[in-house]
Amino acid sequence: MTETKPIPQHVAIIMDGNGRWAKQRGKERYEGHIAGVESVRAVVRASVRNGVKWLTLYAFSTENWGRPTAEVDAIMELFCKTVMGEAAELRDQGVRVKIMGERGRFSEKVRGMIDYIEQTTAIAERMTLVLAFNYSSRREIVLGVRDIARRVAQGELSAEAIDEQVIAESLMTRSMPDPDMIIRTSGECRLSNFLLWQASYAEFYFPEVLWPDFTEEEFDRALEVYARRDRRYGLVTSEPSK
Ligand code: FPP
Repeated sequence: MTETKPIPQHVAIIMDGNGRWAKQRGKERYEGHIAGVESVRAVVRASVRNGVKWLTLYAFSTENWGRPTAEVDAIMELFCKTVMGEAAELRDQGVRVKIMGERGRFSEKVRGMIDYIEQTTAIAERMTLVLAFNYSSRREIVLGVRDIARRVAQGELSAEAIDEQVIAESLMTRSMPDPDMIIRTSGECRLSNFLLWQASYAEFYFPEVLWPDFTEEEFDRALEVYARRDRRYGLVTSEPSK
C-alpha cells in the first residue's frame, strides 16, 4: 500500500534575503525584490501542483514603511507591475488573490491594483494566495480588540462570551485556516510580527537559502520536511482530538 504524504493546507512564508542577495551581486536592494518576484511565481506554481489550498506571503510589513523612500517606492511599483502582469494568469491557474493589511496608507494607484487583482481572480477556486501587504500582527490584534470592545460596549457581546473563536474572527485572517507551516528564508529564525495568534501550532522551517534563490524544488523540500514532522497539538498522539 502506498502511504499518502500529509500536505499542509496552509503554508505561510516570510520572504527574507532579497537585500543580501542583491548586495552579494553588487546590485541595488530593489533588484533583489525584482528577483524575488520569480520566487513568488515558483512557490505559487509549486503550491498549486502540490494541492496546498492557502499560501500566504509576507510581502510588506507595517514596519517596512521605515525603509528608504526609494526602496518603498520600488516595492510599491513592483507590486503594481506584478499585479498587472499576473492577474489573468493567476486566475487561469485557479488562484484567487486576497490582499491582507490596512489599505489607508497606500496610494490610489496601489489601492486600484488591489481591487483589480481581487476582482479579476475572485472566481478562482483551486487555491487562495494571500499577500500580506502593510500587515503586522500586533496591529491586526489591536484592531480586533477594538472591534470586540466596541461590540461589548454596545451590548452586542458579553465579556464572558469572548472566546478563542470570537478573537480569531476579529482578525484579518477570519476566513482562513491557521498556517500549518511557516517558512522563513535566509536563515533568520524570527516571526517579525507575522501571524502571531495564528502560528500557535504551525511547524516552522528556516532554510538558509535567500528568497530569490528559493525555487520550486526548495518548496518541495519544505513539504518533505513538513511530512516528517509529528504534530501533536499538546497531546501524545499525532492527531488532534475531535
Ligand atoms: C525581505 O527581504 C523582502 C521584502 C521586504 C519585500 C518582499 C517583496 C517582494 C518579493 C516583491 C513584492 C511583490 C509582490 C508582487 C508580492 P529584505 O529586503 O529584508 O532582505 P535582507 O534581509 O537581505 O535585507
